[in-house]
Amino acid sequence: MNDHVPLKKLHIKTYGCQMNVYDSERMIDILRPLGYEVSDKAEGADLVLLNTCHIREKAAEKVYSEIGRLREMREEKEARGEGRMTIAVAGCVAQAEGKEIMNRAPAVDLVVGPQAYHQLPELIARTHRSKGERLSADFAPEAKFDALTVDRTVSGPTAFLTVQEGCDKFCTFCVVPYTRGAEWSRPLASILDEARALADKGVREVTLLGQNVNAYNGLNADGTQSTLARLMYALADIPGIDRLRYTTSHPNDMGQDLIDAHRDLPAVMPYLHLPVQSGSDKILRAMNRKHGRQSYFDLIDRIKAARPDLALSGDFIVGFPGETDKDFEDTLDLIRQVGYASAFSFKYSPRPGTPAAAMPGQVSDAVADERLQILQALIIEQQQAFKENLVGRTLDVLFEKRGRLEGQAIGRSPYLQSVYVDGAVNLIGQIHPVKIIANGNNSLRGALLTETVEA
Ligand code: SAH
Ligand code: SF4
Ligand code: F3S
Repeated sequence: MNDHVPLKKLHIKTYGCQMNVYDSERMIDILRPLGYEVSDKAEGADLVLLNTCHIREKAAEKVYSEIGRLREMREEKEARGEGRMTIAVAGCVAQAEGKEIMNRAPAVDLVVGPQAYHQLPELIARTHRSKGERLSADFAPEAKFDALTVDRTVSGPTAFLTVQEGCDKFCTFCVVPYTRGAEWSRPLASILDEARALADKGVREVTLLGQNVNAYNGLNADGTQSTLARLMYALADIPGIDRLRYTTSHPNDMGQDLIDAHRDLPAVMPYLHLPVQSGSDKILRAMNRKHGRQSYFDLIDRIKAARPDLALSGDFIVGFPGETDKDFEDTLDLIRQVGYASAFSFKYSPRPGTPAAAMPGQVSDAVADERLQILQALIIEQQQAFKENLVGRTLDVLFEKRGRLEGQAIGRSPYLQSVYVDGAVNLIGQIHPVKIIANGNNSLRGALLTETVEA
């Protein structure tokens, strides 16, 4: 670090999905050479970056209230004579509503979309000269990944790695095809370079990210294309990379070679996030999901045939336009038949510019709220049953951090539950078999089966 560059404080607040988490880490990497160091509070920061999410109305609206709060902090900072606080909005709201942000929230200095954030240093320099920069309408992830170095700051033995961006599916409720652009896959070599660099820094588990990660079709050096399965075989060959996960998958892109990889590749964790959104064929059609209820069941049968101990998670939307009690019952029935280890569920939120927002039969808030409660209760029941079933079993745990109490270590099971053990020393970054002895509310308690050696 250059001694002549005074340190500046960067506060970054991340909303939305894991891809935004990855992007935030990469923005920090880009800004660090300019002398920015991360601060966990906005108060007193020289640069505040809001990495935003547009998926539901609530997520998008949060940004505006946050900007209001920041404006006050900025005034206080200036009054203390500590210089200006630059306020930047990044992410999917920046992409979707860049102009509107500038009009509605004049406190914002710059707006930068998800495919343009490699240009942050230049943008920040320009805003310091004249206010009001906006850079977002740019759907060229190639340029971004070319500009990012593989040298990442890691914070433990697990890491996200974006391999694919964008979506061509156009589910009628969803803004992602508009905020992240068309499907695009990173070339294989660039992903492998980044993964090797991660492994060198002690990362043992990589979660491959994409809005439709299983549609991955990146170029090989010889001009042919790789599938996600082929990418995972190559990643599993990297010494140190022991665990692979990927998210989010679309049922229609679960190729046979990917299913086979679950059978043949020990590094691929037996846990799959496979959103279906609804269990009603009528609603699935209206959502433009291009798959039905039965084809989802058949797909799960095929995946479980390849990997019988695989557990599933999913996403569900309740209150989609036209959803009747019967349609909702079909969703509950699907959930009962599949049995999820965990799931996310949302009340349908009409998004500007999406076809569903203009559909007849919008469901009242009260009805949607009630359905959401019923669905979530069922999911919690299944989640607890799944965890209860793990008691008495031995699972490999990758230890990530110390626990709250002395001598406690916390890691993750193959199924992503937090597992904590007592009497552990220096386990971070190691994988050990753990016997699960109790099911807590948010975690599992385990006992180490191996003698651990102090490092
Ligand atoms: N590409 C992923 C993730 C999309 S966003 C996928 O295909 O699953 C994550 C989840 O948010 C979606 O799966 C969906 O359940 C939910 N979601 C998306 N748009 C929504 C909307 N308008 N209202 C409510 N939930 C929504
Ligand atoms: Fe949105 Fe559908 Fe694409 Fe997922 S598959 S990102 S829900 S349009
Ligand atoms: Fe949100 Fe954008 Fe992710 S809209 S869910 S942050 S792709």
